[in-house]
Amino acid sequence: MSYEIKKVVVLGSGLMGNGLTQVFARDKDTAVVLRSRSKKSNPFEGVRADLDILIKNGAMTEEDAGAILSRMSFTDDMEEALADADLVVECVLENMELKQDLFREIEPLIRPDTILATNTSVMSITQIASKTQKKDRVVGTHFWNPPYLIPLVEVVKGDGTSLEVVDAVYGYLKKIGKKPVKCMKDVQGFIANRLQHAIWREALYVVEAGIADAATVDEALKYGPGLRWPHLGILENVDMIGADLSLDIQRGVIPYLADNKEPSALLEKLVAEGKLGFKAEPDADGLHEGYQKWTDGQIAESRTALREYLIKVTKDLK
Ligand SMILES: NC(=O)c1ccc[n+]([C@@H]2O[C@H](COP(=O)([O-])OP(=O)(O)OC[C@H]3O[C@@H](n4cnc5c(N)ncnc54)[C@H](O)[C@@H]3O)[C@@H](O)[C@H]2O)c1
Repeated sequence: MSYEIKKVVVLGSGLMGNGLTQVFARDKDTAVVLRSRSKKSNPFEGVRADLDILIKNGAMTEEDAGAILSRMSFTDDMEEALADADLVVECVLENMELKQDLFREIEPLIRPDTILATNTSVMSITQIASKTQKKDRVVGTHFWNPPYLIPLVEVVKGDGTSLEVVDAVYGYLKKIGKKPVKCMKDVQGFIANRLQHAIWREALYVVEAGIADAATVDEALKYGPGLRWPHLGILENVDMIGADLSLDIQRGVIPYLADNKEPSALLEKLVAEGKLGFKAEPDADGLHEGYQKWTDGQIAESRTALREYLIKVTKDLK
């Protein structure tokens, strides 16, 4: 079967659905339909807000934003929207039954060659596909937040997904300017979250073991290896220093790293005490506690600074 993606339907207009709609509509050859369940007066409010951030930071012109919006439409009429869809991407809540039932419901409304993609963060693609008739067309497309700034998309093959579908989605994402990678096994955490969580486990252990506090752990990464990672691949680094040296280092350090199979005990304790970080209720001094204590100003600054940083670094990304 040959696949040509010209019309995309995004299901769910929350944080990720809005972001994905913008990503697809940036391509001048793609028409995007956004479908929401919420009855908001303006379903494009969220997309417009994201575009405004880019305009404010000089990363987009008003004219380009207008062109992006002109390629989008919104509907509650699923039948009409899906009849000629080439790709359907679901971005509804992270709930297995909801996603399974949604794909089962819409399957009679789509063509045999329409691809069904799920933006699940961590759930099994194979399981999400289990209630559909044609499992070869169900694929994972794991975008990262904010999807219009983070280039990575993990294209995840479920047990039944055909290689043609994986290749078609990979090729399309590349064409519209994303940096897709193929994850050829339906494993928990796909690729990037496995890497992130391996570091996370160690970071939490370093704090729990009293080796350094949370702010110090963050500094050690930010001003050390973290600076290299956008440029030097971590496995490229192995080749750079030599496999022999890498092996010696592994022999010396691997036996001492965290290897817990349960979530961090300290993390469990923080949650039990309501110390949820930025979203924690403020204490008597107005601070929001998690691993560290944060003022409202620091929280706002952290969010803005991340977005501004991403806008800056992704502008020149090759
Ligand atoms: N937030 C992230 O950082 C992130 C990153 C990657 C992947 N994801 C995944 O993307 C998906 C969406 O996450 P989000 O953060 O956008 O959530 P969200 O809560 O912001 O949005 C979910 C949207 O789905 C809608 N919805 C629920 N049932 C629906 C249905 N049957 N039909 C159509 N719309 C329906 C809701 O009204 C809401 O607008 C989840 O699977 C999540 O795990 C999230």
